[in-house]
Amino acid sequence: MSFTPERYQINNLNFIPFISKNEVDNAILEISKQINFDYKNSTPVFLITLKGAVFFAVKLLENINLNCEIHVISAKSYGSQLESSGNVMIKVEELNLQNRDVIIIEDIIDTGYTMEKVLSVIQKTSPRSVAIASLLAKPEKACVDIKIDYLGFNIPAQFVIGSGLDFDEKGRNLSGIYILEE
Ligand code: IMP
Ligand code: MG
Repeated sequence: MSFTPERYQINNLNFIPFISKNEVDNAILEISKQINFDYKNSTPVFLITLKGAVFFAVKLLENINLNCEIHVISAKSYGSQLESSGNVMIKVEELNLQNRDVIIIEDIIDTGYTMEKVLSVIQKTSPRSVAIASLLAKPEKACVDIKIDYLGFNIPAQFVIGSGLDFDEKGRNLSGIYILEE
């Protein structure tokens, strides 16, 4: 089953289908395969950024065949706005990442400020390596240079929901990616 309406409305904003569930699933499977290959000699630590990346993370991790650890971190910047507030809050559990290969799982990298902050917190814990897997990125909106090691899709500078991404906490359960109708 999947939830794929032709149009989805939140607070007078209309969202329409943009990337199908099938395309999303295929892209995630390819990322899993690549990570399995790249980390075959490691026991990586996956850090899932709540909440948006949870759907992506579950699909990704279902196909990971490595010994690994899975943790969550919390990074919040949008609230009920369509623009990144730049005011990023990070909560990292008491994690011991020293000498570990860390893979951050993120839903979308927009301005990059959130990931910059997450990276700076993680780097302080002396990991051996840090990689980023992001389902989506908006290169036209990038304000800081973030190297994305595993990327599903580059998308235009428009707001999207679905596959875990929300607007004002709604739309996460849409299958595939929906884009704001101009
Ligand atoms: P950044 O700090 O501007 O890179 O924003 C990153 C965070 O904002 C992401 O982790 C998302 O939670 C949220 N975000 C950015 N763009 C979108 C979007 O188009 N839809 C939903 N959430 C978004
Ligand atoms: Mg996020």
